[in-house]
Amino acid sequence: MIYTVTFNPAVDYVMHTGALHPGMVNRSTAEEIYFGGKGINVSLVLAELGVKSVALGFVAGFTGLAIEQGVQASGVATDFIHLSSGFSRINVKLKSSEETELNGQGPRIDQSSLSQLFDRLDRLSEGDTLLLAGSIPSSLPQDIYPQMISRVSRSGVRVIVDASGELLLRVLPHHPFLVKPNHLELGELFQTELHSADEVARYAKKVQEMGARNVLVSMAGDGAVLLTEDGNLLQCGVCSGTVVNSVGAGDSMLAGFMAGLVHGDAAYALRLGTAAGGATAFSDGLARRALIAELLQQLGEKLFDSATG
Ligand SMILES: Nc1ncnc2c1ncn2[C@@H]1O[C@H](COP(=O)(O)OP(=O)(O)OP(=O)(O)O)[C@@H](O)[C@H]1O
Ligand SMILES: [Mg+2]
Repeated sequence: MIYTVTFNPAVDYVMHTGALHPGMVNRSTAEEIYFGGKGINVSLVLAELGVKSVALGFVAGFTGLAIEQGVQASGVATDFIHLSSGFSRINVKLKSSEETELNGQGPRIDQSSLSQLFDRLDRLSEGDTLLLAGSIPSSLPQDIYPQMISRVSRSGVRVIVDASGELLLRVLPHHPFLVKPNHLELGELFQTELHSADEVARYAKKVQEMGARNVLVSMAGDGAVLLTEDGNLLQCGVCSGTVVNSVGAGDSMLAGFMAGLVHGDAAYALRLGTAAGGATAFSDGLARRALIAELLQQLGEKLFDSATG
């Protein structure tokens, strides 16, 4: 089973407005609600692809219940821990001529709730995958990812980490199965900027030497590079389409990649990841199955039949 972790899930309240006037009453012309957080995004795209996962993490209050129900309604199993105080955050995204975001802080995660998460981790076993994605709330210890990896490492769980900066550096000595920085995040690790796929490949190798088993580096509109455990370097360009909103493209790529590994080899996983990332970049919300299948065809592959697994 694949388990995703979202420490601070959110209700994303998207409002479309005309010109925005601070200090005045502004009215929206249309609204949408999405349930999000990086781990949840990965679970939602996995569900689109017919791959089961369990979303772990923390929810609180009426917004937390809404997130839980909404995620379940999309076909994702949840095993969230319910915090006794506060409420899960609402992130307001104002779409006028430019995009303004107002992101909530979210509830405080107390020690006993955190230990419940570790109890959940103890149930994972060989063959399971644990996905850790994104930043962590300031109320948590900064070494929470390494702590979680240590907790599951003896049971042979595959750990995938999508994080940047110090969070990423700290997990590398624990030999995660896969890390997925984008090219900017990869450059930041080494206080440099990376301008070509060759440079990206060189720095991916350094990350592997620092402990990661497989390194997937996404490069937004320039595609992605995968350095595998056995030293193969694979590259994939992007699918063609019109970019609507690329937020969550990285999460979708990870979901496609993970689904691809369930049903094929690393090269297939890279292409399915690319199709899923593209499908999100070309859509309003997250990638949908039909578009992923269409984009995968551009890359010369067929989407697996989800009935077979
Ligand atoms: N403009 C684009 N055109 C086509 N494909 C894209 C585009 N942007 C992203 N993608 C696809 O999605 C993948 C992941 O995108 P990106 O590198 O932007 O991830 P990211 O920076 O981690 O995003 P996020 O953290 O917001 O989810 C890319 O490797 C590519 O395959
Ligand atoms: Mg990312």
